[in-house]
Amino acid sequence: MGDLHVHESTVALYREFFTSINNQADVVVLCGDLTNLGLPKEAENLAEDIAACKVPVVAVLGNHDYESGQQDEVKRILKQAKALMLEDEPFEFEGVGFAGVKGFGGGFEPHMLGPFGEKAIKAFVDEVLAESLQLEKQLGILQTGKKVVALHYSPIKETLEGEPKEIWPFLGSTRLVEPIDNLNATVVFHAHAHYGSPQGKTQKGIPVYNCSRFVMEKVTPEQNYMIVEI
Ligand SMILES: [Fe+2]
Ligand SMILES: [Fe+2]
Repeated sequence: MGDLHVHESTVALYREFFTSINNQADVVVLCGDLTNLGLPKEAENLAEDIAACKVPVVAVLGNHDYESGQQDEVKRILKQAKALMLEDEPFEFEGVGFAGVKGFGGGFEPHMLGPFGEKAIKAFVDEVLAESLQLEKQLGILQTGKKVVALHYSPIKETLEGEPKEIWPFLGSTRLVEPIDNLNATVVFHAHAHYGSPQGKTQKGIPVYNCSRFVMEKVTPEQNYMIVEI
């Protein structure tokens, strides 16, 4: 699940989810925008819900978790609730590896933003390149046959279908797909595109799921998360 957007005032919003998911899944993957404004109180609310979960919870942050400049504190609070933050280190569980980063925008081939001209443009491109490199490093560490990738931003265009085309360059980048295809990930999950589409594939054929809870609510109104057998 992604795009939880927990507010300061929303207490126990995901308690039911984290309690009942124990019977349905072996691992829970959270794809960012865990909080709405990146506030410690929001993280505390979510941490209380995560504490109800008995299976491992792995997560990456989203852009909303950076909004207040307190992303390190948000991470610390979630880690205390035993959430494993994939940005810091990959995770292995029963022969399946999990790697993840937030990702960033930059656009898609053949129209990606290039590092040319103003410093601000170069910094924008550097940000997505750094995220892509970090993902490559993590996937390289994993020794498992199966590798799950968690992102907030999308590595492909297909799962953005439904969002205005004008904002696609801010919803993801082809630069994120390179480590996924080169290092043979098994499956990719992302969120961030609230109005996107649930499913796509990389050029190499690796399945990519947009598990934003807003997309899930549209596809399966009875459940705002996705269950995938690895
Ligand atoms: Fe979001
Ligand atoms: Fe987002």
